Formats: sequence, structure tokens, C-alpha cells
Amino acid sequence: MGALRSTRDLGLNPDYEGKVRDMFDLGDRFLIVTTDRISAFDVIMNDVVPGRGVMLNVMSLAWFGRFAELVPNHLITAEVSKFPTPFNQHPEALGGRSMLVKKAERFPVECVVRGYIAGSGWKSYGRDGTICGHLLPDGLSLAQKLPEPLFTPSTKEDEGHDENIPYSTVVEMIGEENAGILRDLSLKLYRTGADYAEPFGVILADTKFEFGIIEGKISLIDEVLTPDSSRFWPADEHKPGQEPPSWDKQILRNHLETLDWDHAPPPPKIPDEILDITYQRYREVLELLFPGEAEKWRAFL
Ligand SMILES: Nc1ncnc2c1ncn2[C@@H]1O[C@H](COP(=O)(O)OP(=O)(O)OP(=O)(O)O)[C@@H](O)[C@H]1O
Ligand SMILES: [Mg+2]
Repeated sequence: MGALRSTRDLGLNPDYEGKVRDMFDLGDRFLIVTTDRISAFDVIMNDVVPGRGVMLNVMSLAWFGRFAELVPNHLITAEVSKFPTPFNQHPEALGGRSMLVKKAERFPVECVVRGYIAGSGWKSYGRDGTICGHLLPDGLSLAQKLPEPLFTPSTKEDEGHDENIPYSTVVEMIGEENAGILRDLSLKLYRTGADYAEPFGVILADTKFEFGIIEGKISLIDEVLTPDSSRFWPADEHKPGQEPPSWDKQILRNHLETLDWDHAPPPPKIPDEILDITYQRYREVLELLFPGEAEKWRAFL
């Protein structure tokens, strides 16, 4: 398995470079390459976690497959041999970490669903007992399961942090019909994902979906139910009152908190041991949820 920090290292020239993904604009399609970059506190580290991008991409692929009967999605193919030139000339570097997708007209809303209370939802509850306008019962503890999953949308900001908004603002932004469809779809996908994960001892605490219109149909786009877009918690370590160790880059964040670093670039050098443990966390949740997919893409992991 080879690490990939940037598609520029392959002589390619991405049209857009996110914190994690490089995107190539192909007219009515995008080629999305999930690199091994990792960010913390919104700063991209100089070090990579080799194989992390593959694990994220393989999880999205697996969920697209499982959700195919519930909602159309943007995936055309993840087979490098079917990509247009010059991308098809990099089967080893791009394999397992890339998707050719249909370009969507994106809704400017992050469709967050929370089944448990944590993160910005917990902060908002602490301020006034609500999340995105949902009034919650008194006395909830951090990480407690909510009476029912909530749709807690946020704006999609190009710069800076996304902001939680009430459902009524989504209606103003995209109209009542679309807002209702996005809310119902998000809740349905969350429940389906959470029910799938439960028997494996994995709690899906919350997640974020993105949708857009493709060929006239509301479709699921972006990444789906990955540790970058979701909180996955080990069920056997879940106790209300404290946040369980999520299957993501928490180890890296914890390490960074021990340093005298102000969360502004340049980032510090990350010890190999921290990178290795981070890799293992992603690998663990991938193997728990999708052992067959992990096997299928093993050469790239
Ligand atoms: N099929 C699609 N059509 C149009 N836009 C898409 C599609 N799939 C994903 N996107 C958009 O492509 C971008 C992917 O970029 P990426 O996730 O790397 O960066 P980001 O979301 O800006 O930052 P972050 O690192 O916080 O995720 C997102 O803005 C997403 O909304
Ligand atoms: Mg993103």
C-alpha cells in the first residue's frame, strides 16, 4: 500500500483541494480522490496516515451500496480502469481511494442527524436546552441517547465554521418540499445506518449527509457515514456523562492537546506511534462494519 498526500505527487492538477479530498472537475462529473491527509483543529498535518483515505472511501462506497434502494447517489464507478485518462493510468495510487461521480447541484445545507447528544449539540443544549430549535427534556447527560433522532441542520460555509440552523431556516433556503424530503431522507438513512451498526457493537451517535440534484432527482452526494462525517462509539464503552472514544482522529487530537501548540499552522510533527494508532482506529471500525469490503480492498489498505 502506498501513501498519498496529494494527487500533485502523481503529476495531476486538482481543481479543488479540500482538507482531505482532491477534486477534478470533468464537466458533468467529478473525480474525487480521498488522500491520506489528516487535519485537526482545522489545520492539515504535514504527516499522513497511510491508507486512511482508502478506508474513508471504502466506507462511503459500502454505504452507498446499502442505501441504494432508499436514495439515488452520485457514484458512477470506483474502478480505476473505467476512469477517464489520465486517471486510469494510476491504478495503484488511486485504487480504493477514488470515485468517479455525477456532479450535483448541491443543497447548501449540511443534513446533520443526532441520535445522541454530543459536540455542538451538547453545547447548544447547555446554553438554552435546545438544538436547532428542538426543545429537549431537562437533565440530559453528555452522550445520552436522545428520545428520538433529531434532524439538526447546519449551513454549509465555504469559509469558517458551519452554523446550526432551525428547520424553518432550511425551509426559507430551499423551500418546504425540498426541506421535508431532505429531513425525512436524513432521518431514514441515519436510522438504517444505526440499525446496521448496532449488532456489531457500534453506536452511530450522529452524522452529516449532503444532498444535491442529479438528473432532476434528489441524490446523496459527498461522503457517507465515515468517521470524518460521523461519531462512531464503541457500545461497550458508552456511559452517559462522558463522551466515549470515537473511532476517528481523537488519538491525534488528544496528542496535540498535550503539546504547547496554538492550533495555527505550521502543525507539529506527529510521532509515528500516534499515526499508527490512528490508522488502527479507522481500520477497526471498517473491519467491524464491513469485513467483506475490507477484504476486497485489502491490497490498498
Ligand atoms: N457529486 C457532487 N457534486 C457536487 N459537489 C460535490 C459532490 N460530492 C461532493 N461534493 C462537494 O465536494 C466537496 C468535497 O470536498 P471536501 O470534503 O474535501 O472538503 P470540504 O467539505 O470543503 O471540507 P472538509 O474537509 O471540512 O470536509 C464538498 O464541498 C462537497 O459538498
Ligand atoms: Mg467535506
